[in-house]
Amino acid sequence: MKLPQKHTAKGTTIFTVMSALANEYNAINLSQGFPDFPVDPMLGDLLAEAVQKGFNQYSPMAGLPMLREAIANDFKKRYNVSVNADTEVTVTPGATYAIYTAFTSILQAGDEVIVLEPAYDSYKPNIETNGAKVVPVSLVAPTYHVDWQKVKDAITDKTKAIIINTPHNPTGAVWNQQDWDTLADILRDTDIVLLSDEVYEQIVFDDEQHISVLQHEELRQRSFAIFSFGKVYHNTGWKMGFCIAPPELSSAFRSIHQFLCFSVNTPAQYALAQYLSQPVLPDIRGMFQKKRDFFLDLLKDTPFTVHNPSKGSYFQTVGYEKISDMPDSEFTQWLTKEYGVATIPISAFYNNHQDDKIIRFCFAKKEETLEQAVAKLSALTATV
Ligand SMILES: Cc1ncc(COP(=O)(O)O)c(C=O)c1O
Repeated sequence: MKLPQKHTAKGTTIFTVMSALANEYNAINLSQGFPDFPVDPMLGDLLAEAVQKGFNQYSPMAGLPMLREAIANDFKKRYNVSVNADTEVTVTPGATYAIYTAFTSILQAGDEVIVLEPAYDSYKPNIETNGAKVVPVSLVAPTYHVDWQKVKDAITDKTKAIIINTPHNPTGAVWNQQDWDTLADILRDTDIVLLSDEVYEQIVFDDEQHISVLQHEELRQRSFAIFSFGKVYHNTGWKMGFCIAPPELSSAFRSIHQFLCFSVNTPAQYALAQYLSQPVLPDIRGMFQKKRDFFLDLLKDTPFTVHNPSKGSYFQTVGYEKISDMPDSEFTQWLTKEYGVATIPISAFYNNHQDDKIIRFCFAKKEETLEQAVAKLSALTATV
């Protein structure tokens, strides 16, 4: 049977590869981005309550109205933005699905999409599956800021969209107002659609504030803003997220969504709606700030170089130039096998596998997990 090749990504994702290697070598898994601590028991109770109360059938295509309302209220409270729950919010089975659906609703064969790299690894195959072409623009290592001239230069008459991600996986960079304003200047007078991947929106550190595209009145009109409950409430396995976009874009999004999965897990929607409607929500930011600080402190006992403390997301990148000059993918395999700690090579986030000799740790883990990992890593010596 000859089947078409829909995209150029080869084999399984790096996250699956490294998690499998971690299992094989019984290594501590700081590779894939998921927490190893439990969800708030209240969320579990609400899920059980949903099933018992009979929330077990298909929900409306755009999502349970009570969840869409709760999302709109939450954004009003936290970002002071008005979101229309009926026409602008669509509940999805996770953010990855929302990104794919947003691309599918706007892309046609021959279109180009600008991707700032390093980038979350689903973007490229999602774009290519839709017959469009990825136009990569590298962020500037090791601070990973945007070179705006390069973005301008990448725009052609075929550019249909640009996808951005803040707080950023894998680098922990966070956009400021100037970034958003510069992007607005560049996109004004074009029809380019913006996909704003904000799955780590509640996870920022020190004095950083996450600025959502929804707070940028001009850019918001051309944007899909994409969020993940899994990343924020430590339940990545629920695969729950949502997309906020102006009515015209939301209706294009829903025209694909209704034939892709039609409706999303109803009990989980009920549970999240009730959870979000509590008067006080847990201090996610404070919890992750402690973890980042704890992890950075532990790293001081290792020969890794922290070029930039993570400003947001639950990832910390480090250089290993004092330990080895191996290519990063080889280095992460060696680290897993020989030192029992799994990480992710940053080259996996580049179209051309650019190797800056930087690797990524996920610190969304229990303190004891982080301690055990760094105890193993402290056996490393600076040799180069
Ligand atoms: C930048 C980014 N976007 C999207 C996702 C996927 O989120 P979800 O699990 O809700 O599909 C991830 C998960 O790692 C991510 O890092």
